[in-house]
Amino acid sequence: MVRSVLLSFCFLGFAACARGEFYKLEDDIVGPRFLSAFDFQDIADPTHGRVRYVNKFDALWKNLTYVDENSFILRTDYTNTLDPNGPGRDSVRVMSKKTYSTVTTVFDVRHMPQGCGTWPAIWTTTTGKWPDGGEVDIMEGVNDQWSNQATLHTGPGCTMPPYRLQTGMSNGDNCDVYATYNAGCSVGFQNPLSYGPQFNRNGGGWYAMERTPFYVKVWFWTREDIFVPHDVKHGGSHINTGSWGIPAAYFPNTSCNFDKFFSDHNIIINLTLCGDWAGNDDVYSNSGCPSTCVDHVNNNPSAFADAYFDIASLRIYC
Ligand SMILES: *[C@@H]1O[C@H](CO)[C@@H](O)[C@H](O)[C@H]1NC(C)=O
Ligand SMILES: *[C@@H]1O[C@H](CO)[C@@H](O)[C@H](O)[C@H]1NC(C)=O
Ligand SMILES: *[C@@H]1O[C@H](CO)[C@@H](O)[C@H](O)[C@H]1NC(C)=O
Repeated sequence: MVRSVLLSFCFLGFAACARGEFYKLEDDIVGPRFLSAFDFQDIADPTHGRVRYVNKFDALWKNLTYVDENSFILRTDYTNTLDPNGPGRDSVRVMSKKTYSTVTTVFDVRHMPQGCGTWPAIWTTTTGKWPDGGEVDIMEGVNDQWSNQATLHTGPGCTMPPYRLQTGMSNGDNCDVYATYNAGCSVGFQNPLSYGPQFNRNGGGWYAMERTPFYVKVWFWTREDIFVPHDVKHGGSHINTGSWGIPAAYFPNTSCNFDKFFSDHNIIINLTLCGDWAGNDDVYSNSGCPSTCVDHVNNNPSAFADAYFDIASLRIYC
């Protein structure tokens, strides 16, 4: 009896996995495990942000990264005034040691960086020459914008169909970074609780991204959403994305050859300040932010006290 249940369970798991939708927990990253699952990258910010990414030792020593049993904190410095001719504000960029292709990642996020000049991101990409191999942005925004946006970035030849089954709104269907000034094909979420101060006041929520050879889907549920799937909320050992409902963002492969445009990806969590997007003069001033982005970062350390991620868990299903 037990044996036949087990057998049929395995069979189901296998048959379903090939189809996508059914996945098994592969990495359960909570608290201190973030420090072993991710590398710290003290690199120059490729998007010209007013930050200095520090190494692991400095991140822990300066308490820019902090872990306890059930949280992972990643933040910028919020105590030092900066020399305008010196390096940017200390911040942290971490990249997963493992790479993934067909995968579902579930992030339980309690707090995301907020404030003028902030540009936080949870995303996946390759270590190869960008944009070859593609980029998937799961959670991203600047200057406390109205809601989250999820985006694909590729080389030329990847577009999205104009009508898609998603709750978000497409901002453009061409994912080619060369044709879109690096913007790619983004989808703006309809729920303002998906980003910034509103997200934080509400205790955050869950972000999930499923990538298969056929599509990429991104979901978001607020902390109090009564429709958050049980397997998401409770970090189940098995998940069924087929029961998660319509995603906020849906990127099918109908006019984009995923095999060609997307290779194995690392997961990256980064927090930059200003830079090409957040610090763009129009974008920054249209957000109602004070002075210029770089001056704000240099002179107002305390404005960055809430510029931190508090991540309860990252569960990776294959
Ligand atoms: C931070 O994340 C965004 C993801 O959208 C990316 O465009 C940017 O290059 C990243 N910056 C760094 C230094 O990783
Ligand atoms: C380090 O940061 C954590 C999380 O923000 C905080 O609880 C803790 O008190 C900080 N430790 C020190 C020594 O400041
Ligand atoms: C979508 O992906 C599947 C699985 O790799 C493939 O068989 C199919 O040809 C792809 N469709 C397009 C239009 O690329």
